[in-house]
Amino acid sequence: MTVDYDTLAKTIAALTEGETDQVALMATIACEVHHADDRFDWTGFYRVTEPGVLKIGPYQGGHGCLVIPFERGVCGAAARTGEVQLVPDVDAFPGHIACASSTRSELVLPVRDASGEVIAVFDIDSDQPNAFDEEDADQLTRVLAQVFAR
Ligand code: SME
Repeated sequence: MTVDYDTLAKTIAALTEGETDQVALMATIACEVHHADDRFDWTGFYRVTEPGVLKIGPYQGGHGCLVIPFERGVCGAAARTGEVQLVPDVDAFPGHIACASSTRSELVLPVRDASGEVIAVFDIDSDQPNAFDEEDADQLTRVLAQVFAR
């Protein structure tokens, strides 16, 4: 774990203070998290735009596919179950969607609003195998709650 999550959380809190627009919030988080660690090769949001459908939101990194149904991929699993998906080896995850062939591991977190509804998922992909741990998942969940569930 190489991210100083306390500093990151404070930076994001300061940058997003008073802002309620979800795209502005997502863009800011994607940027700040992406540049916080070399492990992060693709960092961004997929938004729930209609029941059972995720559509690309603000991101950093290479091209991301535009639409992901809840039935598919790591992002779909996070949206469907409402649970964090920590995937050390994407090749071992049934139905993983390879937007970039270089991706080896992935962390996807559900994003909830103040009422607890899943409004999006936050997806971080790494070109390194087994790049993420529970600490990343817990700390990033805290950052997302601080911004979207307030
Ligand atoms: N790998 C993800 C798809 C999104 S991208 O990698 C940007 C998945 O399986 O849900």
